[in-house]
Amino acid sequence: MKVKIAPSILSADFSCLDREIRKVEAAGADLLHVDIMDGHFVPNITIGPVVVKCIRKVTKLPLDVHLMIENPQNFVDEFIKAGSDMITVHIETIDRQGLEAIKNKFVAGNVKLGVSLNPGTPLEKIKEVLDLADFILVMSVNPGFAGQEFIPGALPKIRELRRIFKGDISVDGGISDKVSGELIKAGATILAAGSYIFKASDVKLAIERMRDAG
Ligand code: DX5
Ligand code: ZN
Repeated sequence: MKVKIAPSILSADFSCLDREIRKVEAAGADLLHVDIMDGHFVPNITIGPVVVKCIRKVTKLPLDVHLMIENPQNFVDEFIKAGSDMITVHIETIDRQGLEAIKNKFVAGNVKLGVSLNPGTPLEKIKEVLDLADFILVMSVNPGFAGQEFIPGALPKIRELRRIFKGDISVDGGISDKVSGELIKAGATILAAGSYIFKASDVKLAIERMRDAG
């Protein structure tokens, strides 16, 4: 499986977001990672569906929308309508029954359903819902902020998940070319990165280095 690189716009300059998005698109990004935070599930607030709708207009890249919010089931309709291609919900915020209840919206909207787990959440929690998920997002930092240090506990989780799950395995948090090789070897197929990509002086090279490190 070709590894997909997903720049996270959390580290972009929001005063010229369209330019920032075009920059990573031209540099070879495969997806655009969009972080949605509610100030409850995580101690930070970002953007909502209104902005996602605007982002949809300025890029052809698939939008990989990461919901770090409580009660995600109340908001998936809006994010699907806004033009998301992939939407991730956290297993800490929704149970199997909740996922079953929203699954049909994803199928109808042709949107991929991702389920994520925090560094402190055991893989067992995800194993119960693997059949409902199109992809799994393994957090390698505690969600809330860009620019944190990679937590290596993500690696054994990815290795174990790779043995039992056929779909994409995404990893998010503290990723640079220094850890991307290990992540790819462990079985990750999508790498989300904010600071490393947006702060790079040569974004194309940064993306190539991440992808080729495996
Ligand atoms: C963290 C977000 C990440 C973050 C990644 O809560 O979900 O997507 O933007 O940023 P870096 O790569 O700087 O850790
Ligand atoms: Zn994210």
